[in-house]
Amino acid sequence: MALRLGDVAPNFSATTTEGTIDFHGWLGNSWGVLFSHPADYTPVCTTELGTVARIKGEFEKRNVKVIAVSVDPLESHHGWIKDINETQVCTMNFPVIADPNRQVAMAYDMIHPNVDDKATVRSVFVIGPDKKVKLTLTYPASTGRNFLEILRVIDSLQLTANHKVATPADWKHGQDCIVSPAVSDPDADKLFPKGVRRVKPYLRYTPQPNL
Ligand code: BEZ
Repeated sequence: MALRLGDVAPNFSATTTEGTIDFHGWLGNSWGVLFSHPADYTPVCTTELGTVARIKGEFEKRNVKVIAVSVDPLESHHGWIKDINETQVCTMNFPVIADPNRQVAMAYDMIHPNVDDKATVRSVFVIGPDKKVKLTLTYPASTGRNFLEILRVIDSLQLTANHKVATPADWKHGQDCIVSPAVSDPDADKLFPKGVRRVKPYLRYTPQPNL
């Protein structure tokens, strides 16, 4: 069955380009991004892994570990990484799981047989320090992901985990937030001393509280 938000991210032991890992142990107290790509030595995937390698510092700043997976074997990953470094002007700096037996792909429902019964789709799982799934995304093989969007979502997930706010459409770090509907008006004034702008009783904005 598909994984849902709030489910515990399945643990696994796997061989990666940076050694064997126990997934939950490898995550430790960090947030995590686990993302699949359909196959090694393919053009869109090459650009995606290069992009993540170049912006890995942005994930680290947010206490997020990144890890990729495909159903190709380890030797294939190692050869492909040389091409990624060469063509994407980067140095690969995060592990890629070799999943030829598809244990990770199956546990995370990354194979969608009506599209392709062998390769994984482009899945993204953001996992919290409690090991629970906080976000899922599924893209087809033909469309590369926007990893700046994944960073933006992580900013929202981390903010809303600690403050009684939600983030509006297209929100970016630093912009006004929405006061959670569960917060009463009198409590909102106490909780958000920077001010509450009331547009409708259910639509109340406040400056980002953790800045
Ligand atoms: C790619 O990464 O370019 C790709 C992979 C599988 C199917 C189509 C494109």
